[in-house]
Amino acid sequence: WRQRSEIHAIAEFSPELELEMERLDKEFWIPGQKLKEIVKRFIEELDEGLQENNKNIPMNISWVHSLPTGNEKGTYLTLDLGGTNLRVCKVTLHGNETDPATPEKKYTLDQEQYRVPQELKSGSAEQLWTYIAEKLQTFLQEKGLDKEYSKDKPMPLGFTFSYPATQDKIDHAVLQTWTKGFDIKGVEGQDAAAQLREKIKEKGLPLEIVCVINDTVGAMIASAYNDHATIVGAIFGTGCNAAYMASLPSIKKLSSSDPRLRPQDPNANTNKNGEGEKMAINCEYGAFDNARRVLPITKYDEEIDKESPRPGEQAFEKLSAGLYLGEVFRLVFIDLADRGFLFANQDTKGLRKPYILDTGFLSQIEDDESPNAINTRNLFRDTLDLSLSDQEVEVSRRVAELVAFKKRWARALGEVLEWGERKEGEDPIIITSAEDGSGVGCAIIAAIEMERRGR
Ligand code: GLC
Repeated sequence: WRQRSEIHAIAEFSPELELEMERLDKEFWIPGQKLKEIVKRFIEELDEGLQENNKNIPMNISWVHSLPTGNEKGTYLTLDLGGTNLRVCKVTLHGNETDPATPEKKYTLDQEQYRVPQELKSGSAEQLWTYIAEKLQTFLQEKGLDKEYSKDKPMPLGFTFSYPATQDKIDHAVLQTWTKGFDIKGVEGQDAAAQLREKIKEKGLPLEIVCVINDTVGAMIASAYNDHATIVGAIFGTGCNAAYMASLPSIKKLSSSDPRLRPQDPNANTNKNGEGEKMAINCEYGAFDNARRVLPITKYDEEIDKESPRPGEQAFEKLSAGLYLGEVFRLVFIDLADRGFLFANQDTKGLRKPYILDTGFLSQIEDDESPNAINTRNLFRDTLDLSLSDQEVEVSRRVAELVAFKKRWARALGEVLEWGERKEGEDPIIITSAEDGSGVGCAIIAAIEMERRGR
């Protein structure tokens, strides 16, 4: 394994800069032994979260009891509030009645996507739900769904609410804390579903919220709709998190005599493939090591945490998720510029805007194969109004590799899982991408819930 920058190097570093790069390398490098220590603690924390509610990984109960059979059918509206976008989708599930010519198409999807305005992220609950209800209303009107459904015959709505929530049942979700830079007043500690339901009623929309799910649960269910061997749904997006199907007895904080476990779910007690009863757990592992016992924290990470709306929370997410990687890169660059290593005689005003760089900026630098790195140069000029010397191009490549871990990631996974040498295609874990996970997965869960309600 060689670093790209060694292959395409277009400039040598000065000795001082070389030393600085080595310092950065050390700061971001995690030795194999340390990785194993982190993994060990991660497993312990996952387990602790199943025992009791604690301040680290919460291991939230989702009330999704089974993977889909693949037969689920019907038309549903789904609403997805992630960290960056709001999506409204009309999803039609075909179950097993797909066209034999295109058996892989088990659903049809019609969607609109809106970028969540920045000011909404730190506004009030009233502004948030009003904005969402307006988008729902526009969607219903544009697709003619307002004619098809009525208040007496409402369209089932599944809500993908990708934040940590305590659920007493599937159509209820008390927000534990905002993550991903959101800081909307008046939702934490409240049932987000009830707040949205209230707004829907106020606007007279022909919708009925039937389930609230996390995007990770949606991704897992959407994958399982096509392939029953799916066991985990993971998101590597604005935030990072995963869900999996846990066996009920492993969830110690949920007593087997809990009356909520008896919602007459026809699927809850089925014993498919000889398996026992299950429950999808939304781990919320972005909160891993909030107690800061094992994670290696750089001074750049400290700064991100300090400036965030919820310092001390989502410790792991802030080190690794899409929302933050561009910011780590930016802080490293500011540090280097302030100490006279970069951009002498240039105005670095553009670089000083928090969160100006998204993760795409880093991957474009890493993937740049253009002659004389012209793409990277253009990117810096267009986004930050900076022109790069050859040496600065090299620095940007090195820092992008250090921060985004693209290649190290695969290698680290192999080290942790002790895969050893293996041929291509022999990976013990098969990673597939769950297209439209939060829309389709949510529609499937809505279908299962409607069936459970006998409708
Ligand atoms: C954050 C949220 C979590 C979500 C993840 C990915 O970690 O807290 O609910 O699954 O981002 O979107």
